[in-house]
Amino acid sequence: MQHLIGVSQLTWEEIDKLFQQARYRLKQPTGHELSRKVVAILFFEPSTRTRFSFEVAIKKLGGETINFTTSGSSIEKGETLEDTLCMLQEMGVDALVVRHSQNGVMASLAEMLEVPVINAGEGTLEHPTQCLLDLFTIHQEFGQLASLRVAIIGDVLHSRVAGSHLRLLPRLGVQVLLAGPPEWMPDSPPPGVRRVSMEEALTCDVVMPLRVQRERMAESSLPDMAEYRQVYGLTSDRAEKLLPHAIIMHPGPFNRGVEIDGEVVKHPQSRIFRQVAHGVAIRQAVLEAILNKRSDAQCHRAIQMSM
Ligand code: CP
Repeated sequence: MQHLIGVSQLTWEEIDKLFQQARYRLKQPTGHELSRKVVAILFFEPSTRTRFSFEVAIKKLGGETINFTTSGSSIEKGETLEDTLCMLQEMGVDALVVRHSQNGVMASLAEMLEVPVINAGEGTLEHPTQCLLDLFTIHQEFGQLASLRVAIIGDVLHSRVAGSHLRLLPRLGVQVLLAGPPEWMPDSPPPGVRRVSMEEALTCDVVMPLRVQRERMAESSLPDMAEYRQVYGLTSDRAEKLLPHAIIMHPGPFNRGVEIDGEVVKHPQSRIFRQVAHGVAIRQAVLEAILNKRSDAQCHRAIQMSM
C-alpha cells in the first residue's frame, strides 16, 4: 500500500493484516514505529474523530504531526491544493492525511504525488479509514463477516461512510440493507444491496443510523427533524425491539434526537464509543502499513546507493 485512497484498492488479505495489527495496537497502543516520521494533517472540512484519532495514532507511535489550516496559509493568497501538497512533499513530510470536499480529488493527488496520501474523508465519495474501523468493530463483535446483515439507515446519498461501505461490504459477503427516505437512497445501489422498510432494517445484526448531513442539502429540501425521527429515527422504543445479539453503530457525529435518541447512544447494545477507540488502532495499523513499507523502500535505495 503506497496510498490509501479508497476501499476498492484493498484485498481481504490486506484488510485482515490491518485487523491483526489493529488488534495488537489495542493491547499495545504505544511504540516507536513512527519515530522521526512527520505526518502533515490537512483538513479542509470540519472533523473531531478522524483528525484527532490520526493525531493520537501518530503520537502514540512516536511520530510528529503538523497541522495545516487554510487560514494563514498561502491558499489564502490563491495557491492551489495541488501546489500546497507539492510544497509539503518537497519539505520531506512522510505522509499526508487529507480531508477534502471534492469527489475524486484523492485519486488525482495520489497520481501526482510520491509521498503517501491517506484519504481522511472525500466529499460524498469515500471515507476508507472509517469504513475499516466500522468493519473491524463488526469483526471483533461477531468473529466473522460473511452472512451478517447490516442495515444502513437514513442519509445514504450524502454519506461518504456509506459510499465506502457500499463498495466494500458486499464484496466481503456482508448483506447490506438500506432504509430511509427515497430521495436519500442511491440511484443504483451495488448488486445485492436492497432497500427495505424500517421494520426489516431493525431485524439486522448491525443497525447503523447515519447523520442527516444538513450541510450538504439546500435548506428547502431538509425534512422536518421531528417527523424524520418519528419515521426513521433509532428511538429508544425501536432500540428495545432489536435482536438480543444485534449491535448499534454510528460513524458520528450524531444528531441526538434526530437519527438516534440520546439514550440509545449509551444503550447496552451500542458500540458507538468502541468504534471511536477502534479508530485509533485502525489508523495506527494503516500508518504502519504505509510508512513502514516506505521505510523498507528507502532502506533498499540507501543500500543500493552505498554499493
Ligand atoms: N466519523 C467522522 O468522520 O467524524 P469526524 O467528522 O468528527 O471526523
